Formats: sequence, structure tokens, C-alpha cells
Amino acid sequence: MGTRFLPATKAVPKEMLPVVDKPVIQYAVEEAKEAGIEQFIFVTGRGKHVIEDHFHHAYELETLLSERDKTAELNSLLEGLPITGSVSFTRQQKPLGLGHAVWCARHLVGDEPFAVLLPDDLLVGKPGALAQMIQAYQSVGGGAIVAAEEKPREETRRYGVIDPGARNGNITEVKAVVEKPDPAQAPSTLCIIGRYILQPEIFSELERREKGAGGEIQLTDAMARLIGHMPFHAVQTSCARYDCGDKVGFLHANIAVALSRPDIAAALKPILRGIKV
Ligand code: G1P
Repeated sequence: MGTRFLPATKAVPKEMLPVVDKPVIQYAVEEAKEAGIEQFIFVTGRGKHVIEDHFHHAYELETLLSERDKTAELNSLLEGLPITGSVSFTRQQKPLGLGHAVWCARHLVGDEPFAVLLPDDLLVGKPGALAQMIQAYQSVGGGAIVAAEEKPREETRRYGVIDPGARNGNITEVKAVVEKPDPAQAPSTLCIIGRYILQPEIFSELERREKGAGGEIQLTDAMARLIGHMPFHAVQTSCARYDCGDKVGFLHANIAVALSRPDIAAALKPILRGIKV
């Protein structure tokens, strides 16, 4: 619902808030595209139809930019567009939890492995986080993969937390997962961040609609029930992660992405240095 960003998110979905000049959701789509994903399913909700418009042609704007020879601006619009027929939208009719949101896409996903990207988690790096996870997926022989990061122990109640098994480089075997545990009960400080590669078996687990932490249908709980039935690993990618669902994380993302942009960094740096705090 984007309540942390009100009033900005009263009429604009939080996924459309810009990091520099692109809505946060477009970064996730670009990351997926770069990883070789060919079909994009958006699970949205009431009031989020502008997301659909964002991934559609804007004919008047495109004609205007082309008539005025604004090639760079025109290309920035066209580059973000998925190819025709590769995008579908479905709605989560009630906010019953992340597991429920994923379950809403079951018929569109069908009987094959798929990736889940939570756009609030902006992952910046080359190769992208999902590309690195797909590489890990291939090296461990499939199953379920989550992206993970070490967090301070006091933050475990904000994340799904992993009980780690054997470790091989940046890939850790997952023995158990628990959603938002108290720091004292957390099995480790290795936390899930918003990227998953899952198998279609997850849908029959989600079908049970069992409520977990916060009274919500949790993806973490459904994944936990599949441990032992398929390989399950966590990957610590080399990407920087910004929590764009949080004001400070969102501002951090804006500054970091702006500083990585050659067209902006030179002008921005002296401004940042000059800010008195
Ligand atoms: C969700 C997941 C949680 C994960 C987190 C990553 O939580 O349920 O396991 O660690 O995303 O951002 P949410 O942030 O939606 O509460």
C-alpha cells in the first residue's frame, strides 16, 4: 500500500517512485531482462494501473519526441518496453501477504521454474543479481534459490532468515528458513532479500493458504515446506542492495545511482559536499 511514503503514494503506486529518472519497478524489469527472462508477470492491485501504462507505448509522446529529433529521450522510452506479448498483469484482490501475491500468478506461470523480484529491493551491479542467481542455479543443479545478505542481528524481524548449511563460495545451502524471527530466536543473520528462483511445486504449498508471521500468507513458509524435497540455496550476490520501501533506503538509492551516472555525478558531487549537516 506504500503507507511509508504518504502523501507521495496517495495517487501514485510506490513502485512508480523514481530512482533518479526511472521508476523503481523498471530496474527490476531490466534486471530480469538482462538475466534472460522472456515473460513478465506483474501482480498488482487497485490503483496500480499506471504500471501497465508505463510498460506500454506512449504514442503521442513518441511522435512528439521523434518530430523534435529528441532521439535520446525517445530511445529512453523505447528501451524500457518489453516486446509485445511478453507482459501480463494480474491482480491480488486482497493484501493477504507475499505468498498469496505469488499464488495469484499461478495460472500465468504454469508448470515451470520462475523468478520472483520484489521491486522495493533495488539491486545494483553487473552482472545483475538475477543473472548471478541463475548462474548459481545452474551450478547447483536447480531447485530453489534466494538472494541473501548478512544483516545486523537486531534487524532479523524484518526478513526471512536462513539456517545455513554447507557453504561454497557465495552459495550457501539452506537447511531451514523462518519469517521475521525475533533476534534472539533467529537461526543466523543471513537474511533473504527480494529475489527468488522457485519451482512450480511452491503453488501447491501456497494453495494451503496457511497464515504465518503478521497473519499473512508467507512465501518463506511455503519454501520452508519444500526443503528436503528439492535443493535449496542462498546466493550472496556482488550487487549493492537498497531498500526502496524505506525512506532512508530510497534516498540512499537515489544518491548512489545518481553518483554512478556520468551525466549527473560531476554536478551532484560538489552539491553533496556543500550540504551542511
Ligand atoms: C519480504 C519477505 C521476507 C524478505 C523480504 C526482503 O518481506 O517476506 O522474507 O526477507 O521481503 O525484502 P516484506 O519486506 O514484504 O515484509
